[in-house]
Amino acid sequence: MLVCHCHAVNDNTIRRCVDAGARSGHEVREACGAGASCGGCRPTIDRLVELHGGAQNAIEARGTQG
Ligand code: FES
Repeated sequence: MLVCHCHAVNDNTIRRCVDAGARSGHEVREACGAGASCGGCRPTIDRLVELHGGAQNAIEARGTQG
């Protein structure tokens, strides 16, 4: 699904940014440019970071608990 039309960034790329450590829309913007122009995609990016980042945090938390 194309999320950022200005920079042609899809949801897979945004998930990869989260996997690489981005934990906010701002960090995704710095990592791949999504959301850096008109800003119309930012609510969707924030939601993806929230959903995917939350899942990543849960996985990491489970990892630290053994
Ligand atoms: S659609 Fe993402 S910055 Fe415009």
